[in-house]
Amino acid sequence: DGVDVEELRALARSLACEAGTLVREGRPERVEVAATKSSAVDPVTAMDRASEELLRARLAVERPDDAILGEEGDDVPGTSGLTWVLDPIDGTVNYLYGVASYAVSVAVVAGPPDPERWTALAGCVHSVVDGRTWTAALGGGAERDGRALHVSRPASLAGSLVGTGFGYSAERRAHQAQVLTSVLPRVRDIRRLGAAAIDLCLLAEGALDLYYERGLNPWDVGAGGLVATEAGAWLGGLRGRRASSTMTVAGAGPVVDELVHLLEAADADGDGRAAPR
Ligand code: IPD
Repeated sequence: DGVDVEELRALARSLACEAGTLVREGRPERVEVAATKSSAVDPVTAMDRASEELLRARLAVERPDDAILGEEGDDVPGTSGLTWVLDPIDGTVNYLYGVASYAVSVAVVAGPPDPERWTALAGCVHSVVDGRTWTAALGGGAERDGRALHVSRPASLAGSLVGTGFGYSAERRAHQAQVLTSVLPRVRDIRRLGAAAIDLCLLAEGALDLYYERGLNPWDVGAGGLVATEAGAWLGGLRGRRASSTMTVAGAGPVVDELVHLLEAADADGDGRAAPR
């Protein structure tokens, strides 16, 4: 009540684009890893921190009553019931190497800052290198640079291009490789582009037919998830669950059900041990 989702969309866009300019203009020729997080292959750079600081500073001025959940900083409590969910650089490994697929992702959600329980209200994903900017507002549709977005409706799983991603732990990856052995032979092909937020936006515009990933964080899926659903995608998990860090699947039409069943059979939301469910 009293929440104008279009106003929130405009703010999300302005924040993501501003941080994107910082990331683009400030990228040194050789990017150093400042620290590692969940494992030795999960990097943080100085720019991840600088971009998030910019977003937080802007929000402190523009939306002082809202909470903040960001990839690189402490949670900020709020009083309004809204939370800004920030990924200052989604696709940090691409940023590190200079592969052009990385983005700033800014979402605002109502309710608990947990993808399984929140209601995403608005969001923006700004692709830093080429400037493509996707936005969505709840009930207001998804667009990229002024053009309304609609998901594809592939006729078959065998004709579907599927995006996915991998976690940062060796154990998780070993199981994800196992799951791939049942998915890859059944689909047109797989893309691992390296930024979940961009993957979800590509799905929204029909440049990917399906997407799945285990282990996403809230900031990976906040804005991109809303862009996808506002473009007509179903977004969910396995075994009747909502999309969560356990599993996020997106797509439209009967092929998404087929993918869900394939992933359930492959125990893609488990860790590959013969544990009873
Ligand atoms: C990662 C990217 C990647 C996905 C990982 C994420 P980060 O985000 O979105 O595509 O596969 O699960 O953690 O660490 O670059 O912000």
